[in-house]
Amino acid sequence: MIPPGSKADFSFEEPPVTEKIEDIELRLLLEALREHYHYDFRGYSPASIKRRLRQARVRFACDSFSQLQDRVLHDTAVLPELLGYLTVQVSELFRDPAYFRTLRETVVPHLKTYPSLKVWVAGCSAGEELYSLVILFREEGLEDRTLFYGTDINPDALRRAEAGVYELDRLQLFTENHRRSGGKSSLSEYYTAAYGAAAFDKSLRKRVVFSDHSLVTDEVFAEVQLVSCRNVLIYFDRDLQNRVIGLFKDSLSRRGFLGLGSKESLRFTTYADEFSEFSRNERIYQKKGGGL
Ligand SMILES: C[S@@+](CC[C@H](N)C(=O)[O-])C[C@H]1O[C@@H](n2cnc3c(N)ncnc32)[C@H](O)[C@@H]1O
Repeated sequence: MIPPGSKADFSFEEPPVTEKIEDIELRLLLEALREHYHYDFRGYSPASIKRRLRQARVRFACDSFSQLQDRVLHDTAVLPELLGYLTVQVSELFRDPAYFRTLRETVVPHLKTYPSLKVWVAGCSAGEELYSLVILFREEGLEDRTLFYGTDINPDALRRAEAGVYELDRLQLFTENHRRSGGKSSLSEYYTAAYGAAAFDKSLRKRVVFSDHSLVTDEVFAEVQLVSCRNVLIYFDRDLQNRVIGLFKDSLSRRGFLGLGSKESLRFTTYADEFSEFSRNERIYQKKGGGL
């Protein structure tokens, strides 16, 4: 043991006082958001939440997180824009085409054995991932027996998902992604272009429900055969990742599939043993259990 007062007592680096105060203010801001608006960001990875809230602080011309807290508590109009900073809305149709190709080639043959299906896209942003799955399921003859749920906490993203309208200049990338994912049709069959925007066909939404659901505070809402949740867990700390994987495990039917995409893994979560690895590269897992 190091004797008190010895030199080694001071060997660790204390953060500077201003940074410590900033951390206190950040904690209080997140607490205020939870208590007043029921948005709970306390389990998000601190470095990225701090970076994004610093950007928001600049945008709202606040000198400190305490000032930002004051603004958001007293002016409800601030919240929607602040949510845009707190949640990352980057997505694409058929983003990471190899993921969709793997679903198509290896998961779909299993899904074809089910008489009816439910699919849950958790953290669906403006609907890009969900529409990709609907198109893939249509091409594979599975759409008519499937219900699709797209959930997110960002109301603006959910509104855009409902609308299914994307800037036309994104379509070249979407089309290329779709082709590389093994698409069996031309993406242009699914949208109408006008006034710089591409409106996706309403028929794609006939079996789709978009809803507000938080992976942090809400519970399981349906039994599903496929959960796709990509580029969401990376923003959560280990405890929250565990909670969310537990939620997916409870909502999957026996031998249901969980697609996390190449950036995330089950390996370090408490539930790793409850799944088998189905596609190593694309991090697609299958829940263990006999029968269908
Ligand atoms: C980077 S986007 C990923 C979109 C899509 N899954 C993809 O991979 O292209 C992350 C999404 O997770 C959503 N999100 C963040 N926290 C969430 C939570 N607690 N519950 C549900 N969705 C959440 C964000 O609003 C955002 O739309």
